[in-house]
Amino acid sequence: MGEDSKITIAARENGPLVVKGLDTLKGPDGQALEVKPVMALCRCGGSKTKPFCDGSHKTNGFDSSSGTPAGRNRVIDYEGAEATVTFNPMVCAHAAECARIAPAVFNSAERPWVQPDKGSRAEIEEVIAHCPSGALGLRLDGKVTHLVADRARIEVMRDGPYMVHDADISVPNPGEATTPRKFVLCRCGKSGIKPYCDGTHKDQGWKSGD
Ligand code: FES
Repeated sequence: MGEDSKITIAARENGPLVVKGLDTLKGPDGQALEVKPVMALCRCGGSKTKPFCDGSHKTNGFDSSSGTPAGRNRVIDYEGAEATVTFNPMVCAHAAECARIAPAVFNSAERPWVQPDKGSRAEIEEVIAHCPSGALGLRLDGKVTHLVADRARIEVMRDGPYMVHDADISVPNPGEATTPRKFVLCRCGKSGIKPYCDGTHKDQGWKSGD
């Protein structure tokens, strides 16, 4: 990922995400999708050619200003002997990378759902690096720190958002303790913090059909 190959994303009002300078776009099965110097990605949820925009936003009444955040915008600390994990529920996209990598530490069936002492520091760091939204962080010297795993610039999640890595975007993330190095963008059209994903796709059982 060269520093000089910056990509930019503009969230068009009531329209798509316009992406410039993209080098890698991965589909829901990890396949490489065609990239163009300028491309429009669907964020209304209605395109028949997902992840690309087919103009459906013009006919389905997509309103990019609508919605109520699904979770509260606050930073919760889960303290452990070796690591303190931070979590902002508002920006969590429910990608579940945490439960996949360290299921003993991140278990939504238990209370609290994050128990740092049930895993190693290395496991926790791996989870935080792979958390695509930046909802999870590490508290170091009082500050929230994000780790970033090396991955494709934009990855399309089946029945979920776009996971973005190293891009400039026209709209700042409203979530506290997030990072511009990685974030997730809504493609179901239902998020309360558009253009970012707030996990509503999961709550509503949205199906992307791709
Ligand atoms: S894709 Fe997550 S809220 Fe729309």
